[in-house]
Amino acid sequence: MQCDVLTLFPELISGVLSQSILGRAHEKGLVHIRVHDLRGFIDDVHRMADDAPYGGGAGMVMKAEPVFRAVECLQAEGTELRVILPSPQGIPFTQRIAQDLSAEGRRIVWVCGHYEGFDERVFQHLHPEEISIGDYVLTGGELPALVMIDAAVRLVPGVLGDPESAQQDSFVESLLDFPHFTRPAGVRGQVVPDVLRSGNHEAIRVWRRKEALRNTYVKRPDLLEQHHFTPEDTNLLAEVIQEQDKEKFVGSEKER
Ligand code: ADE
Repeated sequence: MQCDVLTLFPELISGVLSQSILGRAHEKGLVHIRVHDLRGFIDDVHRMADDAPYGGGAGMVMKAEPVFRAVECLQAEGTELRVILPSPQGIPFTQRIAQDLSAEGRRIVWVCGHYEGFDERVFQHLHPEEISIGDYVLTGGELPALVMIDAAVRLVPGVLGDPESAQQDSFVESLLDFPHFTRPAGVRGQVVPDVLRSGNHEAIRVWRRKEALRNTYVKRPDLLEQHHFTPEDTNLLAEVIQEQDKEKFVGSEKER
């Protein structure tokens, strides 16, 4: 994965990228991420990255020309670019998009905006993919770019110690993850389910599948609408629904 981030706050990006799994992925050469200060591409004598909006109103608008120059610089290297502009107006970011980015052959360029956003000509000229990380407004595109980079980089082969762990992620199959336990077996009176200590791999697989279905049913039932059910899933979910209904009934009886 080859990425470039264009930003007015390069330290914000490089600070995060140098740490933990992202930092190790970079050191191992599994991903190559460069951060560019958009101020370095300002042509204006006043060294202004932004200016007041035509027509008046609050806030400042980021200028188009520094973005064009930065992108042209990258184009001059001869690689094909995929330009992404984080924006609350974009398409919702999903695990599927993270997978797509992790396998992208082109260089991915994140253009991070601030203030009231970019001059419209950035969109008219570059036609960036606008992607949103949620229905709320942040102060800039840096955190969303980092969110997307993090979600994609961990899917690059070799980045996670155990390749299976990305396969088991929440959302991979429109299901949330199953619960995880580690030693000790008892913590403050709560014990690990026996099946996980049984050594019976098939029973463990079925338990995990059922608990993933339970988690999804309880926390994000909307996801089940997109899930492709196997006959086993259908049976397990029926059991889950019965168990959850019973639990709800017992809970309401206790309250009375
Ligand atoms: N920039 C500001 N808010 C954003 C959001 N929710 N997603 C992506 N980019 C943004």
